[in-house]
Amino acid sequence: MNGHYAIAIDGPSGAGKSSMAKRLAEAFSFLYVDTGAIYRTLGLACHRAGIDRKDVPQVMALLETLDIAIRYNGQGEQCMILNGEDVSREIRLPEISICASDVSSHQEVRSFLLEMQRRFARENSVVMDGRDIGTVVLPEAELKIFLTASPEARARRRLAELLAKGTEAGFEEVLQDINYRDEQDSRRAAAPLRRAEDAVEVDSSELSAEETFALLCELVIKRLAAVPEETR
Ligand code: DC
Repeated sequence: MNGHYAIAIDGPSGAGKSSMAKRLAEAFSFLYVDTGAIYRTLGLACHRAGIDRKDVPQVMALLETLDIAIRYNGQGEQCMILNGEDVSREIRLPEISICASDVSSHQEVRSFLLEMQRRFARENSVVMDGRDIGTVVLPEAELKIFLTASPEARARRRLAELLAKGTEAGFEEVLQDINYRDEQDSRRAAAPLRRAEDAVEVDSSELSAEETFALLCELVIKRLAAVPEETR
């Protein structure tokens, strides 16, 4: 143990992982780490460079030249910095979601980015969200949550988020994007999306954001209180 706690939140696209993880991190004074943003940053770099995202040698050659960094701004928000440029907004565009899913399917890419993610958990108490946090990145996390919701519920929420940010999108397009990524993220050979055996599954399809948050807070409080003193 390193004196820090780790909470892993995995689940499919649009299940509300990032908003829940962010709120939990704030409530418990942990650092929030959104690992999808790292894959999105690489996806954006591939998109800009116009390279074939399914071609592993091309993606790796590019990745090795990139400077991808996470910074936290004055409000404690995670910003993604690509070669010195803040790309936090651009990586949220729907076309970049697909690019991120494509590049994240390569084992070489995942191995390359693993250490960067683990370092945060060695140095801080974290709430980290992604697809393989409980299974691969932080298998020793004190609490693992697998947050799900039906594809339609997730598409509705993602659409509302995009519209609120002023990004134009339609329901069908968002649902298609979710189905594409569900399929690719769970079928890939490299660290596919799956629930860790010791994860608590929470289906939020019928729950409001407040209900989901209350449930997750309860899980965190119970679990952290149960961690034996000597292992903290
Ligand atoms: O969580 P997100 O939608 O921002 O993630 C973007 C893509 O990155 C998603 O399609 C799957 C991939 N991803 C991953 O493979 N492993 C992670 N730990 C996080 C995200």
